[in-house]
Amino acid sequence: MGTKLLEYSTTCTDILIIGSGAAGLRTAIAAHDSGVKDVVVIGKCKRGDAHTVLATGGINAALGTMDPKDSYLVHAADTAKEGWFIADPKAVLALCRNGPNAVNELVRWGARFHREKDGRLTQRFFGAHTYRRTCFFGDQTGKEMMRVLIRQVRKRKIRFLGDVFVVSLLTCKGAISGALAIDFGRGRVVLFRSKSVVLAAGGYTKIYSRSSSRGFENHGDGAALAFEIGVPLVDMEMVQFHPTGMIYPKSMVGSLVTEAVRGEGGILLNSKLERFMKRYDPVNMELGPRDFVARSIYTEIMEGRATKHGGVWLDITMLPKSRILDRLPKMYEKFKKYDNVDISRERMEVAPTAHYTMGGVDVDLKGRTRIKGLYAAGETVGQIHGANRLGGNSLLETVVFGKIVGEDAARFVKTHRLAQVDHIELERRLGQLGSIFGKSKVDGERIRQGIQSAMWTYAGIARDGARLSAGLREIGALRRRFDRVRVGRAALKENLELKTTIETRRMFALCEAVMKSAIARRESRGAHYRTDYPKTKESLRLNILSHRTAGGGVGLSTRKVPKVSGPLKREIEKLEETPVRRSFE
Ligand code: FUM
Repeated sequence: MGTKLLEYSTTCTDILIIGSGAAGLRTAIAAHDSGVKDVVVIGKCKRGDAHTVLATGGINAALGTMDPKDSYLVHAADTAKEGWFIADPKAVLALCRNGPNAVNELVRWGARFHREKDGRLTQRFFGAHTYRRTCFFGDQTGKEMMRVLIRQVRKRKIRFLGDVFVVSLLTCKGAISGALAIDFGRGRVVLFRSKSVVLAAGGYTKIYSRSSSRGFENHGDGAALAFEIGVPLVDMEMVQFHPTGMIYPKSMVGSLVTEAVRGEGGILLNSKLERFMKRYDPVNMELGPRDFVARSIYTEIMEGRATKHGGVWLDITMLPKSRILDRLPKMYEKFKKYDNVDISRERMEVAPTAHYTMGGVDVDLKGRTRIKGLYAAGETVGQIHGANRLGGNSLLETVVFGKIVGEDAARFVKTHRLAQVDHIELERRLGQLGSIFGKSKVDGERIRQGIQSAMWTYAGIARDGARLSAGLREIGALRRRFDRVRVGRAALKENLELKTTIETRRMFALCEAVMKSAIARRESRGAHYRTDYPKTKESLRLNILSHRTAGGGVGLSTRKVPKVSGPLKREIEKLEETPVRRSFE
């Protein structure tokens, strides 16, 4: 690469937030409101666009507007139980206790969540919740949250840049010192120097071929950036497969069909038109936990009761069209546009899709990592949802923990100076970037697809030790081939090939962490289903940590999960005594 491309400009700030979805924006607002005005938010998509806009179904809070018996403790008990008791109970309590304030705050900021005729916020059922507690804006809740959060960010005049892609984090003497990024819009390298960095860059579902994320996001940027500088990752094997993704046409495979369809009364049928959930979970039926519903669908498909494109039917035709248009307008539009299906009259064809990653960066209750000044929030982190996340808890997580992290990062920067730049490290990182350019005959895009399909095949819904090991070998072989990939166009401006090449390079460590953790977890728990170890083992009620080894590989260790105690324990016990039957009244 020519020397011109190695030139960089420098921007200094107190807090750099990597990721401009709901978690990143809420962090920025909190930091600003805590007195830190010099905050910069960067995102790799266009300004204002982020993965959050895809979040459809809703946001949970124990407001009790529909079911007055609800409380944050019942919400926490549901969350801990459905996380199969490997989530940190204190994180679960923080999530659920802060839920009502977080949702009310969004409403104060102008979020147009659905209301009953008497003005109460409507709350609908999502799978495995004891009570109705999911607030929503049609089926575009994430988009609505982005709208109000962006308005708050603008009101505070927080700097907010799109098309900026982080290549690596920088540290000096054990503290974060900033990040090296490419501004693809302007075509230049930028050195961000900052006292604190917050990773709010989403999860890693895009390492799978079938995923509910868009093609250009959720590659695990946050987890990979942290891992590269020695921050451990936790429970990487815990990948949520949402029961219902589109399966046809090809261009839409994996795209989310919101759980709200089932929350509004939608039912699942196999190719024989049997309501098969009766056999698997007669109490909860279609509104059982996601891991279980996804596995039930998977079983129907594998046992030969699949529809013509290899899925099952999701039927909402029992609802009046007016209600569908009111509650599920996006689903209506999506099926009409891409599949020419009118969901008020015809069934949808669906199958499981990789939707959310419960694993991620290992942080404490304030979102602090082991590196001084480095934080993480949102889907980037692990241990909040354990082995299976409840629908509607991810949007909640973004705003609850965004606020906590923003406030703590603000406290941090008030008492710390800007760390020095380690120039040797910076030169090394620039050198690595430069070495990507050149000529090669290896097709990087094909290798990327190979990774995604290997992950789906070997580390998908049903796993076993032998296949996971085969998958690990395949990922290793793909990695060796990918090392020879070079980017031909030696320019930065809008160089999509450069961006995808860096993303793909980073995906290997994440795939290795997922596979190795899945091999080590010789049991089935939540979303992690091992056909060779179908039982859950109390001895494995622990977290698996992935560490970067000296050679750049993945090493594992385990850690005990803090015990559930006090009122949360009592609430869980009550829950287990009295399974609640859900109704749609
Ligand atoms: O199905 C859904 O609408 C997904 C919601 C969630 O993952 O929280």
